[in-house]
Amino acid sequence: MTDLMPLQGFDHVEFHVGNAKQAAHYYRTMYGFAPVGYAGPETGRRDGASWVLAQGDIRFVFTAGMGPEDEPVRHAALHGDGVRDVAFAVPDAEEAFRVALERGAEPAREPSVEEDDHGKIVTAAIRAYGDTIHSFVDRSNYSGVFAPGYRAVGPDEDHPFTVPAGSGTGLRAVDHVVANVELGKMDAWVDFYADVMGFTQLVHYDDEAISTEYSALMSKVLWDGEGRIKLPINEPATGKRKSQIEEYLDYYRSPGVQHLALATDDIVATVRALRANGLRFMRVPETYYADIRQRLDWSTIDSDLDALAEQNILVDADDEGYLLQIFTEPAQDRPTVFFEVIERHGSKGFGEGNFKALFEAIEREQDLRGNL
Ligand code: FE2
Repeated sequence: MTDLMPLQGFDHVEFHVGNAKQAAHYYRTMYGFAPVGYAGPETGRRDGASWVLAQGDIRFVFTAGMGPEDEPVRHAALHGDGVRDVAFAVPDAEEAFRVALERGAEPAREPSVEEDDHGKIVTAAIRAYGDTIHSFVDRSNYSGVFAPGYRAVGPDEDHPFTVPAGSGTGLRAVDHVVANVELGKMDAWVDFYADVMGFTQLVHYDDEAISTEYSALMSKVLWDGEGRIKLPINEPATGKRKSQIEEYLDYYRSPGVQHLALATDDIVATVRALRANGLRFMRVPETYYADIRQRLDWSTIDSDLDALAEQNILVDADDEGYLLQIFTEPAQDRPTVFFEVIERHGSKGFGEGNFKALFEAIEREQDLRGNL
């Protein structure tokens, strides 16, 4: 089934934001992304501006509109800054679109071919949860910076990075993209990705596994079977107080992307650089490290616990290996989208052993916002 829908990986993630120029600056100075492309009035685009930033295989696009009639302005007004498009690279965008519609997907943008001196790019898009869409992108015949209409943006000499310009912070790839959907809707979206994309369920976390004294959630993880694309889907479960998923849905005003996990090969160095740039992370208490020193089998973990504890990085292990992870605070004023930094050593998990400690940390923040 996946053969008819051959997805090659994440092509890019597009955010609709209130101010793309400033968002680009934030992701550049904080995360070490390099600006590579720009489209706006100067390049002939009248209804908005987009900045393309890259680091490793990660490509983010930040788009803002120019007036209230423009879609990015509507999107940002309703949702705050957030993810509009989780785009997949495909060998044939028209065929992917045709197959997706045949299997029940709703169209978001008909197939189109754009061309310039660097070749041609073919895209189409289908609707996903909330206002989120999935573009199919075939850039196999394109050699430009991003797409026709974009001009190259050169490296800026006066980067206020603490890391050398061009080296970034070690972020390498998008590991997974997590959706929050409404209560009772998780299984419908699991079916959507299974039916339309041919994805299978990698793992399921019930509300017993993911609960604290106050709140609970359920999660199922869809994947392409090869690990290039992993899409966990969360829905709130009934707890004593409001779950973090409900808080997200209240502020985002619809289902949407909750977090993006970015892979690194050296999480200690990456997190150190991110902290030096001013990025703030969720904190687990010191007792967490005493707990995992006991709970995990350290003979199979080849990482320095003291260095991890110093950066407040979380550890989890399973039969296949282990992983290291850390979560940022929300990236905008609304408590909606945040990021995860992850380093995998064999484990295909998502840090389920950390859920409780992590959610208690999230709840402390939720309480500070008066939303618990
Ligand atoms: Fe995650």
